Amino acid sequence: MTWQPFYVGDGTPRDVDLGEPPPWRSFPRQALYKEFQPPPGLVKAVNAALVLRRPLLVTGAAGSGKSTVIEQVAAELKLGDVLRWHITSRSTLKEALYRYDALGRIHAQRLGGPGGSDDIAPFLQLGPLGTALLPVEHPRALLIDEIDKSDLDLPSDLLDVLERGTFEIPELSRFDTEAVIHVREWGGDERSPARSPIKGGFVQCDSFPFIVMTSNGERDFPAAFLRRCIRFTMPKPTVDELRRVVEAHLQLGQGTKRSQEVDATIQDFAERLTAGESLAIDQLLNAVHLLTGSGTLTGTEKQEVMDLVLRELSRA
Ligand SMILES: Nc1ncnc2c1ncn2[C@@H]1O[C@H](COP(=O)(O)OP(=O)(O)O)[C@@H](O)[C@H]1O
Ligand SMILES: [Mg+2]
Repeated sequence: MTWQPFYVGDGTPRDVDLGEPPPWRSFPRQALYKEFQPPPGLVKAVNAALVLRRPLLVTGAAGSGKSTVIEQVAAELKLGDVLRWHITSRSTLKEALYRYDALGRIHAQRLGGPGGSDDIAPFLQLGPLGTALLPVEHPRALLIDEIDKSDLDLPSDLLDVLERGTFEIPELSRFDTEAVIHVREWGGDERSPARSPIKGGFVQCDSFPFIVMTSNGERDFPAAFLRRCIRFTMPKPTVDELRRVVEAHLQLGQGTKRSQEVDATIQDFAERLTAGESLAIDQLLNAVHLLTGSGTLTGTEKQEVMDLVLRELSRA
C-alpha cells in the first residue's frame, strides 16, 4: 500500500475527507496556553518583568516558543486577549499607536457621511501599542513580535514611548483640547469594536502593560534599549522537555500514547538540535502527528515523509 491518501497525481476528480486537522491547526486558532511548557528560567524572567513593569525581550531560534510565551501569561493572569504587533522592516511606531484615515474622512465630508462633517471618531483607530497604553483597571498583554526585523530606529523610538507611557494624537489635540472622542480600540470583535474615551488627544497609561518582545537574534540592540528590558534566551530543549511538549499537544487529541517510534523520533530530534541543526518544535509536532495518525505510512515511504517534515530550516 502506498501513502497517497488524497492527491494521487492522476488528474481524476474525487471526493475526499481530510479527517481531523492537528489540534494546533484547527481554525479559528486556539490559544496554546495549556500546552505551553515553559523552559527552565522563563517563569522567573516573566515574574521579574511583571514586578518591575519592564518589557520582556525573548530571544531564540525559530520555533522555540517565543511567540507562545505571552499566551500562557495572559491566560494565567487574566490579562485579556493578547494585543499583537507583528514587526516588519516597514513597521512604524505611529501605526502601532494609532491610525487615522484622512482620505476616508475627506470622502465622508463630501458625501455627508456618518455623524456629520465634524465626526472624526470613525476615521481613527488605536493600534496595538496605543490600545495597550490606555488607562485600564487590569494591564493588557502586548506581543511585539520579531522586533529584530524592524527599521534601525524603531527600538529607540519605542523605548521613548514606553518610558513615558503617554502619547499624543495630534489630529485630536489640534482639533479641540477639551473634547472627549471615543476611539476604536485594536483587536476584539470587528463588528462591535470596543471604544475608549480620549480627552484632548492625549493617552496616558496608568498601569504598565505586560509586554513580550521577541527576536531571532538577527541583530544587536543598543545598550540603552537592552538595559530597560528583562532579557531571556530560549534554551535548547532537552529530550525530557520535548517529550513534555509533545505530550501536552497530543493530549488534545484522542489520548494517544507515546509509542517507541515517537520516542525515537523525539530522541533523534533532540540529538540533531544538540548537534547544532536548526529545527523548530512545530516540525517535531508535525512528525509525531503523522506517526500517530490513522496513517498507512510504512517502510521507506515513512522515512521519506519524515525527512520531508523534519528537514533542517537553514536549507530551503
Ligand atoms: N515550550 C513549548 N511548549 C509547548 N509548545 C511549544 C513550546 N515551544 C514551542 N512550542 C510549539 O511550537 C510552535 C512554534 O512556537 P512559536 O511560539 O511560534 O515559536 P517562535 O515564535 O519562537 O518561532 C507552536 O505551535 C508552539 O505550540
Ligand atoms: Mg514567533
